[in-house]
Amino acid sequence: MNNNGKTMKWDSAFYQDKHGFVAEYGKELLKYIFDSAPGHILDIGCGTGTLTGIMSGLGHQVTGIDASPDMVLNARNHHPAIDFLVMDACDIPWENTFDIVFSNAVFHWISNQKKLLSSIYRALKPGGKLIAEMGASGNIESIQKAFEAISRQYGYQYQSPFFFPSSTEYGSMLEHAGFHVIFLEEFDRPTPLEEAGDGLKNWIRQFFANDLEHFTPEICNAIIRDVEETLKGKLWNGTRWIADYRRLRIIAEKPVP
Ligand code: BEZ
Repeated sequence: MNNNGKTMKWDSAFYQDKHGFVAEYGKELLKYIFDSAPGHILDIGCGTGTLTGIMSGLGHQVTGIDASPDMVLNARNHHPAIDFLVMDACDIPWENTFDIVFSNAVFHWISNQKKLLSSIYRALKPGGKLIAEMGASGNIESIQKAFEAISRQYGYQYQSPFFFPSSTEYGSMLEHAGFHVIFLEEFDRPTPLEEAGDGLKNWIRQFFANDLEHFTPEICNAIIRDVEETLKGKLWNGTRWIADYRRLRIIAEKPVP
C-alpha cells in the first residue's frame, strides 16, 4: 500500500497553532519585498494569509491564492480587505498582471513544476519577478528516511509526495520556462518544531496524515514512537526537536522583450 498521490487535507486552525513557524520563517523572504516599489503581488499558497497581510500593509495590492478552501476561509476572516481565492497555482488565469509573484514553502507540494512555472511566467508582467522559497534537495531527509523504514515494517510503502530540487536542477527548469535567474541559493535551515517534546509527533501527524490513514491509531502511535526513537540522536537537542530543513531561495525575472 502507499498514499496513492492523495491531496493533503489542511486544518487551518491546527496548522496556524502548531506550524506557525512556517510563516515566521517566511518573514525572512519579505526582505526582498521591502526593497520593491508598491505594486501588484500574487501570493501563491497564502495559507492563513499572515505574509499576504504584511505585504498588503506595506502598500502593495495583494491577491492571495491557495488550493485549500479551509485556508482561504481562514485568511478571509483574518484579512477581510484582501482578495483571497481558492485556486490551483498551475492554472492561474491572469496574464501580464503581477509585478511580483511571491511564494513561501509551497512549491515542493506541486508535482507539475513545468505547468507551475509557465503559469507563473504568464501571470507576471514583463520585468516582473518571482520571489520564492521551497524545500531544497535533502530537505527533511532523515525524517522521510526514518518514516519510510519504520512504516515498511508495518507493510507500507512510503512514497514521498514532495519535490525538493537542487539549485542546479531548478535553475535549468526556470530558464527553460523563460525566466532570467537573478539569485538561487540552497542552504540548511535547521528548524525547531513547536511544542517541545511533542514537536516531531505533531509534525508527522500533520504532514504524513495521508500515510497514517492506512493504520489503526495504535499502529500510528507505534510508528511515531519508533521514528522518534530513531531520530533522537540526530534531531533532539535535549529540549526540542530540530527538523533538518533545507531551503532553496529563488529570485527570477520575466525578461522584458
Ligand atoms: C517544508 O516546508 O520544507 C516542508 C513542510 C512540510 C512537509 C514537507 C516539507
